[in-house]
Amino acid sequence: MKIGILTGGGDCPGLNAVIRAVVRKAAHYKYDVLGIKDGWMGLIEANVIPLDIKSVTGILSRGGTILGTSRTNPFKSPDTAEKVVNNIKKLGLDVVICVGGDDTLGVAAKLLKQGIKTIGIPKTIDNDLYGTDFTFGFDTAVSIVTEALDRLHTTTEAHHRTMVVEVMGRHAGWIATYGGLAGGADMILIPETPFEVEGICKMVTKRAKEGRGFSIIVVAEGAVPKGIEGYITKDVKKDAFGHVMLGGIGEFLAKEIEKKTGVETRHVVLGHLQRGGSPTAYDRILACRYGVRAVDLINEGKFGRMVALQGNKIVDIPLAEGVKQTKTVDMEIYKVAEVFFG
Ligand code: F6P
Repeated sequence: MKIGILTGGGDCPGLNAVIRAVVRKAAHYKYDVLGIKDGWMGLIEANVIPLDIKSVTGILSRGGTILGTSRTNPFKSPDTAEKVVNNIKKLGLDVVICVGGDDTLGVAAKLLKQGIKTIGIPKTIDNDLYGTDFTFGFDTAVSIVTEALDRLHTTTEAHHRTMVVEVMGRHAGWIATYGGLAGGADMILIPETPFEVEGICKMVTKRAKEGRGFSIIVVAEGAVPKGIEGYITKDVKKDAFGHVMLGGIGEFLAKEIEKKTGVETRHVVLGHLQRGGSPTAYDRILACRYGVRAVDLINEGKFGRMVALQGNKIVDIPLAEGVKQTKTVDMEIYKVAEVFFG
């Protein structure tokens, strides 16, 4: 059995832990593993490297991905899609393990329809993949946001300011909700619920009147004010899957709040800090479990599946199910966070 493995889309802490787990479990079954460079780009260009136990030694705790990643969509043109299929055959790959979010796994699901055997491993700091309770990378991102909020609290309070903290989360506000709850945010704005600037300003003014002269507002980059179509962004650039580059809502909101309340308001964009560095113990363990299960699936002859976490069990679901829709925030948790607003 010859397994190919690729990491696609935005990187997240835990990718190397998954690669290591796949290689170690594959060695157990005496399967060969080829690492595909830079996501789907590596299959367009047949850019691969052999992976053995030695090549994955010491990578468990490293952020990023030793394979590199890209936001390449081979189905953007029939030409590149054909190249991917041909190269998989030329390289003699029996199955491709695709570690990615909805875009990367969407391509894996399409290839499946063309007779290519694929297995999906869900990753994204955004935690918005359907069919799994958690994706690895999310826990690390939440701890980074929590630490940032702890630090921002002390300086914001000292200066009696309002601080708007923009975090990642395009379609779903998981990071904002979990990070905001853990970091004691006074308001959390998520893509799932359009917000009213007036309401936020009232909260800021009320807190100031009550002698709590500082406020921390966490906003997911994909959150939008009521009545506005599309996202508020600083850029119009789009990636290969047609997603506009997000970022800008924090700055927009900070200016609005300062203008309307007179309270000095700053903004911070946590950006790629949330995706960098060493994974938490939780993410390492989840990544190890996913990688091992993916190879077990191959051994069982089960293809076209995505490994997933449901409760505390690793299960497998059809790949198509994992990418069929976005998993939005569990409003029960958001309601807990709401108790601490204002
Ligand atoms: O992978 C998802 C994500 O983290 C989004 O929340 C964010 O909009 C995007 O990645 C940013 O990606 P890039 O690194 O390509 O700018």
